[in-house]
Amino acid sequence: MASPSLLVALLLVSVSCSLFDAATNSSKHHHRWVGPIGHRVITVDVNGTAQFRSVQAAVNSVPDNNRMNVLIQISAGYYIEKVVVPVTKPYITFEGAGRDVTVIEWHDRASDPGPNGQQLRTYRTASVTVFANYFSARNISFKNTAPAPMPGMQGWQAAAFRISGDKAYFSACGFYGAQDTLCDDAGRHYFKDCYIQGSIDFIFGNGRSMYKDCELHSIATRFGSIAAHDRKYPNQKTGFAFVGCRVTGTGPLYVGRAMGQYSRIVYSYTYFDDIVANGGWDDWNHAHNKNKTVFFGVYKCWGPGAEAVRGVSWAPELDFESAHPFLVKSFVNGRHWIAPSDA
Ligand SMILES: *[C@@H]1O[C@H](CO)[C@@H](O)[C@H](O)[C@H]1NC(C)=O
Ligand SMILES: *[C@@H]1O[C@H](CO)[C@@H](O)[C@H](O)[C@H]1NC(C)=O
Ligand SMILES: *[C@@H]1O[C@H](CO)[C@@H](O)[C@H](O)[C@H]1NC(C)=O
Ligand SMILES: *[C@@H]1O[C@H](CO)[C@@H](O)[C@H](O)[C@H]1NC(C)=O
Repeated sequence: MASPSLLVALLLVSVSCSLFDAATNSSKHHHRWVGPIGHRVITVDVNGTAQFRSVQAAVNSVPDNNRMNVLIQISAGYYIEKVVVPVTKPYITFEGAGRDVTVIEWHDRASDPGPNGQQLRTYRTASVTVFANYFSARNISFKNTAPAPMPGMQGWQAAAFRISGDKAYFSACGFYGAQDTLCDDAGRHYFKDCYIQGSIDFIFGNGRSMYKDCELHSIATRFGSIAAHDRKYPNQKTGFAFVGCRVTGTGPLYVGRAMGQYSRIVYSYTYFDDIVANGGWDDWNHAHNKNKTVFFGVYKCWGPGAEAVRGVSWAPELDFESAHPFLVKSFVNGRHWIAPSDA
């Protein structure tokens, strides 16, 4: 069964009829948004003692245009497979038996050939890819086990997870990779109590996401970077808001990079180990004066690396007023889809 708090979230969803939702066209037609109807539980066990042995087989068993809450319970074990949740299957939850014991992993790299013989490129390397809306995951880890690249090696980007659907919620999940671990591609996302590990740009994309109480763990050898945000236009509401996180591991480490011209990244109430690179932030390639158009900042951060995070004038200590939008779940319109107890 879904946890009571998740049910509250889904009830909240059902009254949010004013929100535009691409999957339902609700605001366009002013229809009342009905939300998912009913529940279904599917069990997966790699040892073959449940309904399915693989996670993809369980996802495949959900019909297109799904309207039910589907809880996929995944027993302890390593699921060595590449998984896709297509856009036609919203409301799916992956629930593991604990992020140390239930792991989905694969090992594609950007330079590996895809089905058509062309290189996969970074976005298609993810071990698990979710295109659907209202996805959630808890107590499970996602890995890309491709080996860590040496600095300067090309084509070794290897994502563990790509989230491209809207309103995705993750709690107590692990994301493990070397380069480009978590592709936070598009849509509104909330990550709570998660562990995210990598070396270079290990959280990247143009998502509109809040990371609450997460550990961001660097395994960089010569240098590394946490977040590369790809906001392209000044009217986009996207950005990465890190609140109450912990930054640990090895460095030197940039905390944010200007992937897009209007990149937005804010760290608040976050602890930094003594691993932050000089300057703290990177403008990607010194071109296009991105240091004049990005919105980077910190608010009440702490720890031995916190001073270095204030290393450039274009990533200042924010005042409460400018930090506030990045501190609260309304950053991702969470009032409509995240229960108070889940925030
Ligand atoms: C949304 O509405 C438009 C017409 O306004 C229609 O063409 C389109 O198919 C609808 N999309 C969905 C997902 O219902
Ligand atoms: C599946 O098998 C592995 C090793 O054979 C074992 O460690 C694991 O506990 C088993 N999982 C379940 C759910 O029985
Ligand atoms: C998550 O896993 C922990 C053990 O790691 C367990 O105590 C907890 O009940 C699990 N929570 C859910 C929602 O499955
Ligand atoms: C901003 O970046 C440009 C290069 O694009 C550089 O010349 C300039 O010194 C930078 N400004 C600051 C304040 O760091």
